Amino acid sequence: MKKIIVAIDGHSSCGKSTMAKALAKEIGYIYVDTGAMYRAVTLFALRRGFFHGSDIDAPALEAAMGEVRVNFQLDAATGLPLVCLNGEVVENEIRGMEVSSRVSPIAALPFVRIAMTRQQQEMGREKGIVMDGRDIGTAVFPNAELKVFVTASAEVRARRRYDELIAKGQQVDFNEILKNVEERDYIDSHRELNPLRQADDALVLDNSTLTREEQSQWLLDAFKHASL
Ligand code: DC
Repeated sequence: MKKIIVAIDGHSSCGKSTMAKALAKEIGYIYVDTGAMYRAVTLFALRRGFFHGSDIDAPALEAAMGEVRVNFQLDAATGLPLVCLNGEVVENEIRGMEVSSRVSPIAALPFVRIAMTRQQQEMGREKGIVMDGRDIGTAVFPNAELKVFVTASAEVRARRRYDELIAKGQQVDFNEILKNVEERDYIDSHRELNPLRQADDALVLDNSTLTREEQSQWLLDAFKHASL
């Protein structure tokens, strides 16, 4: 079997990361969550006070980009990659609503995308990688051997996100989450540089009514086929 690049794109909160992580573990590939990278940049901007309400001071962030170092560190207990901002593990901080509600405008900034894309391409140089995001199959690795586009209805995705945050003990409102999911869909698919769109040669998976096991099996079959 040859080593390949698996590019998994799709809407927010559609379970891409869960599927991608499970596949990487099963096949012994490196897993990269590119959304976590954009989230870490958002956290940096928040901490540096570059947000004024929901407005971002883009020139200030651009001037400070040289000070942003985003990378991954393997969790010794689970073997899963944890995202780090300037050496600090920030997995929990990047998942809350404060970052979630501000990340799309940050991910729309061309200078942020260019920096992250470059880093992602470097990570995949040796192949043997499962990367999930919005533009992996269209912009980061347009020649990926396997491209998957995952989607589910906005309500199903908001419900999953709601259950996840409640399970973590966060106080959240379902309608606010649904609004956030819809807003992110809109911004992600309407930005100028590398918007979210399905690559022409991607396999599409609508997982609204599939169990986790069914999705994993589907993805594993697709991987086996692509890596022959
Ligand atoms: O997958 P996620 O929800 O963690 O992604 C966070 C944000 O980053 C979301 O608004 C889309 C954006 N993103 C992107 O623009 N390109 C990627 N490759 C990954 C995420």
